[in-house]
Amino acid sequence: MSNSQDGSRFWDRIARKYATDKIADEAGYERTLARCLDYLKPTDNALEFACGTGSTALRLAPSVGSFTASDISGEMIAIAREKQATAGAVNGAGTLTFVQSALETLTYPDESFDVVMGFSAVHLVPDLGDGLAQVHRLLKPGGLFISKTPCLGDMNPLILAVLPIMRLLGKAPHVLIFTSGELQAAIAAAGFDIVEVEHHASKGKDTRPFIVARRL
Ligand SMILES: C[S@@+](CC[C@H](N)C(=O)[O-])C[C@H]1O[C@@H](n2cnc3c(N)ncnc32)[C@H](O)[C@@H]1O
Repeated sequence: MSNSQDGSRFWDRIARKYATDKIADEAGYERTLARCLDYLKPTDNALEFACGTGSTALRLAPSVGSFTASDISGEMIAIAREKQATAGAVNGAGTLTFVQSALETLTYPDESFDVVMGFSAVHLVPDLGDGLAQVHRLLKPGGLFISKTPCLGDMNPLILAVLPIMRLLGKAPHVLIFTSGELQAAIAAAGFDIVEVEHHASKGKDTRPFIVARRL
């Protein structure tokens, strides 16, 4: 069983619950959305991978020319489409297209997008280098990669000790473990300039850096 199939099954199973979970830090989330909007342009062709149930895509899509939101989980995409059907006409997110696919199997031509985004996403790809290479391939030269993802290597080691057990019990997905510094180094090594690193959490230790990087 590949990591992708494994990941899809886990997320399909929890999708309906995930859709009803409250955002843990509303203020931090709004700050992230606002900073994304600072970077997005009305002419942009944007991609968000691992879009989940589409909440962020629905908020950002009206600010760009076209927005593709993809996710490995068919259940997540089904919920996203339901939300789009309800909200699309209201918020003008008509250019938004939801697609079921893992990041690593997206087949868009090289240099298709001005912006590629991933939120709570990069730590879930099967291989960090391959995932970043795919983002690089999909971006136009000078295009932006925007990421905010948990850096488990900066978290309490107890969490890391419990993770394999949770995974055995089917309570956690496959995850990559890296620190913020390691993630930034990997992004740079994949052919990007780091533009900025911010922390948006309104409370507690923030191990989910908001990273903006420009494709060289
Ligand atoms: C924690 S959720 C985040 C969803 C959304 N980005 C958000 O911020 O609410 C992680 C999402 O990543 C998706 N996912 C996991 N592995 C993936 C992969 N290799 N390619 C694309 N999506 C993936 C899951 O299906 C799930 O919807």
